[in-house]
Amino acid sequence: MTDDIQVRRIGADEVDRRLERLADILIDCVAHGDSVSFLSPLSRRRALVYWRSVADAVICNERVLLAAEDSTGQIVGAVQMVPAASENQMHSARVVKVLVERSARGRGIGRWLLSAVSELARKEGKMLLTLSTTTASAAERLYASEGWQRVGIIPGCVLASDGTDRSATFFYKHL
Ligand SMILES: CC(C)(COP(=O)(O)OP(=O)(O)OC[C@H]1O[C@@H](n2cnc3c(N)ncnc32)[C@H](O)[C@@H]1OP(=O)(O)O)[C@@H](O)C(=O)NCCC(=O)NCCS
Repeated sequence: MTDDIQVRRIGADEVDRRLERLADILIDCVAHGDSVSFLSPLSRRRALVYWRSVADAVICNERVLLAAEDSTGQIVGAVQMVPAASENQMHSARVVKVLVERSARGRGIGRWLLSAVSELARKEGKMLLTLSTTTASAAERLYASEGWQRVGIIPGCVLASDGTDRSATFFYKHL
């Protein structure tokens, strides 16, 4: 199934050279209708600006980036953890942008990324994770099946990549 895949943390020393590939995956997701913060068409320049901001946060230790790589070292999926900044929420973090390249989906990589980020959060002393996703998406089913608790749904919270309204479901998980 995922024997040829490894999930590992992309550190400050290498994040800069992984941005083009991460942009490829994001552009492909948006082009095919995934609701992941951007409207279609997503230009390469805009995608790279986004990943540059992620890289800067990784370099400043304000965000953690995990990537799933195939046997050639090519990134096929990624997830991020954003620790809360306020001192009364140091025990919590947000999970954002679980992305798996379309051709690699359905092989357990999304589930693996999610469990890897939960494990890493636990190791870093986090006790609470939160996230939100488009209601009735594959991602919503993934989170529910991994034991995340649904808080509720906000109708019309986000736009799909084609600009139409979507509800968002909010989840949390105690570690
Ligand atoms: C959500 C996503 C990360 C899942 O990645 P994946 O590698 O295909 O997921 P997995 O193979 O690990 O599947 C795990 C579970 O997710 C759910 N799931 C995955 N794809 C699904 C689909 N097409 N339809 C319904 N459920 C699906 C199922 O519960 C599945 O468990 P099962 O195989 O035991 O039924 C991937 O579809 C993706 O990148 N989507 C676009 C980006 C996105 O919406 N990210 C969430 C942003 S918050």
